[in-house]
Amino acid sequence: MNEHVSLPLQAEEAFQRPDSRPNTRKVFIKTYGCQMNVYDSTRMSDALASDGYVTTEEMAEADLILLNTCHIREKAADKVYSALGRLREMKKTRAAEGRELMIGVAGCVAQAEGEEILRRSPSVDVVIGPQTYHRLPEALRNARAGKRVVDTEYAVEDKFEHLPQPEKAKVRARGVTSFLTVQEGCDKFCTFCVVPYTRGSEVSRPVQQILDEAERLVDGGVREITLLGQNVNAWRAEGPKGGEWSLGDLLYRLAEIPGLARLRYTTSHPRDMDDKLIEAHRDLRTLMPYLHLPVQAGSDRILKAMNRRHTAAEYLRLIERIRSVRPDIAMSGDFIVGFPGETDRDFEDTLRIVEDVNYASAFSFKYSTRPGTPGAELGDQVAEEVKSERLERLQALLLKQQADFAKSCVGKVIDLLLEKPGRMPGQVIGRSPWLQSVNVDAKTSQIGDIIQVRIIGTGPNSLFAEPAGSLVGA
Ligand code: 5AD
Ligand code: SF4
Repeated sequence: MNEHVSLPLQAEEAFQRPDSRPNTRKVFIKTYGCQMNVYDSTRMSDALASDGYVTTEEMAEADLILLNTCHIREKAADKVYSALGRLREMKKTRAAEGRELMIGVAGCVAQAEGEEILRRSPSVDVVIGPQTYHRLPEALRNARAGKRVVDTEYAVEDKFEHLPQPEKAKVRARGVTSFLTVQEGCDKFCTFCVVPYTRGSEVSRPVQQILDEAERLVDGGVREITLLGQNVNAWRAEGPKGGEWSLGDLLYRLAEIPGLARLRYTTSHPRDMDDKLIEAHRDLRTLMPYLHLPVQAGSDRILKAMNRRHTAAEYLRLIERIRSVRPDIAMSGDFIVGFPGETDRDFEDTLRIVEDVNYASAFSFKYSTRPGTPGAELGDQVAEEVKSERLERLQALLLKQQADFAKSCVGKVIDLLLEKPGRMPGQVIGRSPWLQSVNVDAKTSQIGDIIQVRIIGTGPNSLFAEPAGSLVGA
């Protein structure tokens, strides 16, 4: 722990608040990165609410700004440091006005950089890693007492046991879809990836904790839950009657919760798609026909160098099996181009696997060297221009597949979960079973309902639909 940077006296005085006075501070949380960070931000907001903080959407009115950061690619961390540069200016202006502004860095950059953040960004008060969010109120109190805090331990106590659950009204205000983290961390050690170092090894939350949280969410009006984990299908825990449950068993159990209309899960590793999970896709209508199953590359040589521990053919066979039990499943994936040593031929294999699978959506990235990962030690790094050119070709193909998939939906009657008001009055945005945004004429009072609609057209990032009669489930 370092000593607090000293501020002009007048500002410091203004910060002092007798502990007996209620906290009326406002927090603004900026979330970078993946869905797990989105979920973590809501849990941090809940933890701070129990200490009196109100979450605001307006950065200008915040007394505390928290950056919930991502470390997966280089640019993500750069973004954080430049945001901290801007916040430093804001803090100076505030200090001159005699108003407090505390700055916290949470998430994976906090975990990876730790003390380094305090060195590079003197305006930061608190650095808190993803495993210690339950200690955030305490860290802020310490920071306010003059200690800049770095808390990036892999806490032995279970943070989920300590994190407060939100009030019902708060759940309701957050909408009809929700994330729920069931698993964190990763033991796979893909050679390009920082996750095993930033999020630690695989940890699964116990069944009862997950059921309690799911039931609370449903009680607060949530209709669709997406189970989250860096390696969500590696989730394993003791079942209620003893014996080990895998993610498939958990999905069967969650599907029994009355009022819970839809289930999803992300992100999965091909090696952890077990029979039970595939059966769940066959049996559970609640389980949406959409699967994010990253393959990263199509060349066996590169897959091996990435330590993915499966071949392209094994991945394709797996998808075939899943499609044989759930033919309407939409596939999504992640791809990396320009992993060290990737030749034109290897890259052609990636294009081929994309052709073979036919993705409904996908994310693709240029390989980004992450210090501390085995990939960073490899020679034969691919030139930036080559990466750019490959990414462009790959994205053109993936975008075409995505557009073709959207077009193939036109004319279909589908179930739509109405989620939020649309941009135009009288319109509501809903989600298709395949995770597409769909605009339809409906009343905002219908939000939370599942209605049947006919898809009538496609836009750049969404579909258009008209009501097609019946209400499927209110
Ligand atoms: N460079 C580029 N992309 C990466 N990803 C993970 N690490 C890296 C890296 N070093 C991508 C993978 C992963 C997704 C979340 O981010 O495709 O599935
Ligand atoms: Fe990273 Fe691989 Fe683990 Fe996914 S499976 S989090 S890519 S190490």
